[in-house]
Amino acid sequence: MKPSVLVTRAIFPDVIERLSQYFDVDDNQPDLVLDATALRQRLAGKAGVLANAADRIDADVIAALPGLRAVCNMAVGYNNLDVPALTAAGIVATNTPDVLTETTADFGWALLMATARRVTESEHYLRAGKWERWSYDMLVGMDLYGSTLGILGMGRIGQGLARRAAGFGMQVLYHNRSQLPADMEQSLNARYVSKADLLKQSDHLILVLPYSPESHHAIGAPELALMKPTATLINLARGGIVDDGALAAALRDRKIFGAGLDVFEGEPSVHPDLLTVANVVLTPHIASASEKTRRAMANLAADNLIAALDAGPQAGKPATVINPEVMPKRR
Ligand code: GLV
Repeated sequence: MKPSVLVTRAIFPDVIERLSQYFDVDDNQPDLVLDATALRQRLAGKAGVLANAADRIDADVIAALPGLRAVCNMAVGYNNLDVPALTAAGIVATNTPDVLTETTADFGWALLMATARRVTESEHYLRAGKWERWSYDMLVGMDLYGSTLGILGMGRIGQGLARRAAGFGMQVLYHNRSQLPADMEQSLNARYVSKADLLKQSDHLILVLPYSPESHHAIGAPELALMKPTATLINLARGGIVDDGALAAALRDRKIFGAGLDVFEGEPSVHPDLLTVANVVLTPHIASASEKTRRAMANLAADNLIAALDAGPQAGKPATVINPEVMPKRR
């Protein structure tokens, strides 16, 4: 008998077909919302799950699923998973790094440019029929070229952003849990500074750090108060890293120039105050959403699931394991 797996969200049909060669697949192609109770019910009796970043798999869920052996996220972020609890239970956890790095960095650049040059605000202005004549200060924005880019969280995506900054003649400052080796700093032309200096000196600040209890509200009212009134803030990382209420107030009071947000606290809900300020660009968590990259993410998550459940050509060797220490003692 084939092991059973759950795919929690709709996904490319050929990926479901591929999984079906190895598993009895419980899919969700109608893409129904599975709340915590429904998710737990659908996980009963499953050996593995191809999960989405919104599916919370916590210690209680894990304790109720003695047959679960692999949790494979179709996302690079994995704050939806209780990794220590998975590891203690001998369950393999995987994510999808690398395949989305450049697409996500591209989107960070799109948000940055849209925010600094007020692209969406300009379009709304035009569509509303407000464009009657040229004016010297109509929708003026902030320059990218020659400005200082701050990157909070210098992982793969942060490094992709730093590489892009070179083409815009930007100085790159960064802050991270650990400083990069000197040769990497040199090749990225990036200088390590304290978080306070990053906040004070950046013309444009992009957040690309993982969400964790330590990074909860890493940007709140005190941090926003350190930023330049001409600065922009881009959140490409996770909701909860920014205190969205405090940000909406700072934008309303022009404490900073603008913000571009792809992720939100409590998404898909958006803080109502953010919807009332003009100087923010809002997108629905689409930074990795190119056709090619979403396919690559789905295929990597599926390959991880197949391998983690000891099937397919890479049996026992999933490519991108979050908790490699579990491998010798996995269920
Ligand atoms: C998207 O947010 C991801 O973590 O891949």
